[in-house]
Amino acid sequence: MVLSTQSSAADLAAVFPSRLRYRWPQPLKGQKNAIWYGADYNPEQWGPDVWKEDVRLMKKAGVNIVTLAVFSWARLEPYEGQWDFGWLDQVINLLGSNGIAVDLATSTATVPQWLALAHPDILPLDRDGKTFWPGARQHWRPTSPTYRHYEIELVRHLAEHYRTNPYIVSWHIGNEFGCHNLYDYSEDANRAFQQWCRARYGTVEALNRAWGTDFWSQRLTSFDQILVPRWVNGYQNPGRQLDFVRFSSDAEIACERAEAAVLSEVTPNIPFTTNFMVSGGSGTGIDYDKFGTSVNFISNDHYFMPGKDHFDELAYSAALVDGMARKMPWLLMEHSTSAVNWRGINYRMRPGEMERDSFAHLAFGADGILYFQWRQSQAGAEKYHSAMVPHAGENSHIYRDVCQQGHDLQTAADAGILSSRVKKSDIAIIFDNESAWALHQETSPSQKLAQFSEPMNWFRALADDGVTADVVPLHGPWNEYKAVVIPNVYLMDQAFADQLRDFVRAGGMAFVTYMSGIADRNDRIYLGGYPGAVRDVTGVRFEEFNPLGDTPGMDSSLEVVPADPAIPHASAYDFADPISDMADSVTVLARYSASADSGMNGVPAMTSNPYGKGQCIYVGCRLSHQDLAAQILPVLTDRGIDASAERGSVLRVVREGEKGRYVFLFNRTDGEVSAQATGTLILSSRCTLGSRDESGTCTLQFQSAGFALMRQETQNSDSESE
Ligand code: GAL
Repeated sequence: MVLSTQSSAADLAAVFPSRLRYRWPQPLKGQKNAIWYGADYNPEQWGPDVWKEDVRLMKKAGVNIVTLAVFSWARLEPYEGQWDFGWLDQVINLLGSNGIAVDLATSTATVPQWLALAHPDILPLDRDGKTFWPGARQHWRPTSPTYRHYEIELVRHLAEHYRTNPYIVSWHIGNEFGCHNLYDYSEDANRAFQQWCRARYGTVEALNRAWGTDFWSQRLTSFDQILVPRWVNGYQNPGRQLDFVRFSSDAEIACERAEAAVLSEVTPNIPFTTNFMVSGGSGTGIDYDKFGTSVNFISNDHYFMPGKDHFDELAYSAALVDGMARKMPWLLMEHSTSAVNWRGINYRMRPGEMERDSFAHLAFGADGILYFQWRQSQAGAEKYHSAMVPHAGENSHIYRDVCQQGHDLQTAADAGILSSRVKKSDIAIIFDNESAWALHQETSPSQKLAQFSEPMNWFRALADDGVTADVVPLHGPWNEYKAVVIPNVYLMDQAFADQLRDFVRAGGMAFVTYMSGIADRNDRIYLGGYPGAVRDVTGVRFEEFNPLGDTPGMDSSLEVVPADPAIPHASAYDFADPISDMADSVTVLARYSASADSGMNGVPAMTSNPYGKGQCIYVGCRLSHQDLAAQILPVLTDRGIDASAERGSVLRVVREGEKGRYVFLFNRTDGEVSAQATGTLILSSRCTLGSRDESGTCTLQFQSAGFALMRQETQNSDSESE
């Protein structure tokens, strides 16, 4: 699909558009390729004297890029049609002439007050009809024609003004689309939703079927009867609800596309991106894999999740972004040097975590590491948010750490890391946004179902077994792996099920979990027994769901007893399918041990079905990542996947390229651990290198948040071990 300023959510309804050409921001003239290092920079909060001081501190820290003008609309167009680029010209020239490149934002994230007051029709409404008033940010309707008009005017003026500026290396469109205005229930949204449904279904009859409107007399006779799901006195129609989420995601993408169309026309040589919010810790209402088709390179914002699961969550999110980027370099557009300001309790980071987090993103393919923000604000809602230069100033441990990190990134670049890409794993975990949206509805078998967390659970289980998995979006090349995990892929069309059958038949191994293949992509249930889309390949069938909960007298967990006595028992929670039929070919790998009256005693919990040349393992229950790791370890080893529980305390991520193989080792625990590796140590943090044995293997001793980066010559790559 061609980018157009008229792009609407409806244009995106029926198609999964083809990917735009990949383009990466190039270094300033005369500079060599470096890992991009920098932050959001908000000079409008400071005066020219501070700008000069900022440039001095940036150079000292090795900063080579900043994102400018993310929230500058009110300064750039203080009155309608009156433009003021003078201050921004001055800042860009100051930065650029000092060798600092600019990622220039289009400033469309927050409309100025004059615009909101002159055109209150741009303000979104929530499902109860309440207005999103100005006073925070992103108070505009993604589908508003008025907003679109002013948005495009601004972007055109900016693009024309800066079309020949040598210091702008990329455009940063909007900011975190959908962060505060994703669901809008206004009349504009209603009209756009009707058009979107028309584009998706073509006929009202098709829509009636998809939404199952014969239930509760919800049948529609024309597209203009469609309403966005405003507050209702009962349960929403799930089909409409799911489509509204799809539509809302498309509406945000359409805003970005409208801006991108102007930029492509006026500044065809400058690549553009927008910052996503991919995070394993929470679900998202935006289909970022689809969004990834509309940018020249992917950028992500990731904020640390306090507590001991933080590193795994970060690693999983970064692996998912690598999957969305199809293993091309991506940019970490924002993370924090320490505390954020938007949680109930804003913990600071612990020693070593700031740099460890940056290098973990780098390991998973981020060739640029940026923070929010350069200088900590003195006023405003984010004045307690950490930054590269904190309130304490240059004489602070954060700024010193920032300088150290700048130095270390340079060391990694000098060692050739930019010539490498993340090595493909043997195993892919599928991530499917739409299944997550469908499972999160209020009328599911259990409110504990959470598709967005099950892929991460598998990522952690595999990490416990010493395997670093790839996380691949549903539309990605998951069938090019040795093994695939299909975790809660609840909505499954026949095309996907066929691909899965072909994959296994040809020799692949598939792990399919509970709540997969239950419904088609319109959330219509496959009949004849669950899991309807994949009964043949899994070889199992069940007739009811069996959620587990803490209601007195009900089972809250079930003991899982493996057939192989060498494998430890596990505990199923939240969900355990009452499998009642199995194909003759199926082997039971584990069964539940439960009270006779629960109906679950002896029921298979985990099965294996040979199918063609391959094998399909069905995991019918939710297990903790530790339990899952123990259950799947022998299966992985059988299939020739290099797994070992001893390696589980250190996550190993490999990037490969013409200059060698780069092995990153990260301590996953909050204690001290050790690991063995070969190769030359490029750099490390909170890690000591022991002596080497005759084979060249050395022992690394990690403190909490410790990591190391080793380089191996490519010809030796196979001899590397831990
Ligand atoms: C992001 C946003 C930034 C800043 C940051 C604070 O969501 O893009 O502008 O608000 O969070 O953590």
